[in-house]
Amino acid sequence: MNRFDKEAISWDDLPRRVELAKAVVKNIIPHLKGDEKILDFGCGSGLVGLNLAPFAKEIIGVDTSAKMVEKFNEKAKKLNLNAKAYKKDIFEIDEKFDIVISSMTIHHIKDIKALSKKLKEITNKVFIADLDKEDGSFHTRGNDDVCHFGFSKEELKEYFDDWEIEYKIIHKVKKHKNFPIFLIKLSRKNNDTK
Ligand SMILES: C[S@@+](CC[C@H](N)C(=O)[O-])C[C@H]1O[C@@H](n2cnc3c(N)ncnc32)[C@H](O)[C@@H]1O
Repeated sequence: MNRFDKEAISWDDLPRRVELAKAVVKNIIPHLKGDEKILDFGCGSGLVGLNLAPFAKEIIGVDTSAKMVEKFNEKAKKLNLNAKAYKKDIFEIDEKFDIVISSMTIHHIKDIKALSKKLKEITNKVFIADLDKEDGSFHTRGNDDVCHFGFSKEELKEYFDDWEIEYKIIHKVKKHKNFPIFLIKLSRKNNDTK
């Protein structure tokens, strides 16, 4: 059982987590037409994906934690939403999506260049929210499964240099200090035929 399996049951109980997800949802909604099939990777219990479901045609979640996937599916069923999650790693996905979204997950993914390439294979549009560059003090439980202490705007531009990138700070998580959260929108460059 990994750390996220252990935390799945009480994942939604932390108000600052719910607030962060709300900010992500609020900033993605204006970009949706309502007819999109959306993939949420690192979907967790669905704090972001399930709240976007009423604004999309279908939400598919993937997460490497079986317990998170269970929680997502329980909530989706209870709320009668067109959303379903699967226990999968984002790197296993080959299906195409209109939009791919992700919140607070890429700091757990080591190879962001490889992630950028994978996303190119499956979609034309991506929204990613995560921590701005931090000093390693965000995860008070320790940094065992943390691959990046957030990301600066410059790093993101470098990692996702194959995409048009729009960057914005959308929220601040209040802990022992404020941790800004960015949202990036990635879209294909005009001359991109790959
Ligand atoms: C910090 S949680 C965020 C969950 C949710 N997006 C939210 O905002 O509440 C990160 C999630 O990403 C999942 N995860 C980490 N690496 C992953 C990968 N390579 N593919 C899919 N899910 C992954 C973890 O299991 C965990 O549930």
